[in-house]
Amino acid sequence: EKPSKLLVSPQVTTLNFWEIPRAGLKLGRRLGSGQFGEVRLGELRNRGLTSTVAVKTLKDSASDSDKKDLLGELEILVTVGRHDNIISLVGACTRDGPLMIVVEYAPNGCLKDWLKTNSVETNAESAYQNQPVYASQLPMEQLIQFGVDVANGMSHLAALQCVHRDLAARNILLGGNLVAKVSDFGLSRDIYEDSEYVKSTQSKLPLRWMAYESLFYNVYTTQSDIWSFGVLLWEIMAMGTLPYEGMKGKRMMDMIKDGGRLQKPSSCPEEIYTLMTRCWETLPEDRPTFPELKSSLIRIMQGFK
Ligand code: ADE
Repeated sequence: EKPSKLLVSPQVTTLNFWEIPRAGLKLGRRLGSGQFGEVRLGELRNRGLTSTVAVKTLKDSASDSDKKDLLGELEILVTVGRHDNIISLVGACTRDGPLMIVVEYAPNGCLKDWLKTNSVETNAESAYQNQPVYASQLPMEQLIQFGVDVANGMSHLAALQCVHRDLAARNILLGGNLVAKVSDFGLSRDIYEDSEYVKSTQSKLPLRWMAYESLFYNVYTTQSDIWSFGVLLWEIMAMGTLPYEGMKGKRMMDMIKDGGRLQKPSSCPEEIYTLMTRCWETLPEDRPTFPELKSSLIRIMQGFK
């Protein structure tokens, strides 16, 4: 069997530093499952100390290219380093068996589930397609704080020229104290060399979160992450409901092309809605930056304290 290019690259020396002995890792229940991988709860023993971790593994059905993607995710986690608003790498098992990536365990699960659990259906008149309206049981300040946390983590990623490409509430995890952390770098690419990552092949894509230029020209940049961040803000304000609910992908894309955008969730403050619509400017250069979004959100949050 031909070794993966990534395995024989100079990265192997960096990866050595992160190597965890398999014997110290016990796998528990499944936390999540994706197209080619799954995340399990884990117990890691290291010099007599036991800690709870999350372990990302590949399914048996995974192809060589899936394996390369997971190694790519590991490389990105190594590059990104420690940040409070990014899920951090604990280590990895890369030798003598299936590849496992060990990351910090986020005890409060994913943001989307959290929002859904903490929302109540209301009798309010829906402005959009007779969809039920959900109201938050969380203080507005807390909801905005989620946005601040993600903007903070994304500022760090953007500064490292790292494009996430799959920013959505399902990929934000909540630590203790409900600190939001950007996770799931499966689709991330380090675009240090080419400033615009152009995806050549078609696979399952997160259409509802994708920027105008990603949908129509396969272009992914930090500015397209900003668009996705706007959709994520919308998800927060709409308490984890599906963006463009009731629309098929094709109709959603037609609407975006014609200049249509997501409507203001009923309980969303006007100022926050203005901020998200700026993330959905057709021209990438007209959108705000992550540091700008962070400070705007902090300023808006002051009004709810
Ligand atoms: N689900 C997926 N990854 C997770 C993590 N790191 N912590 C908790 N739940 C998760």
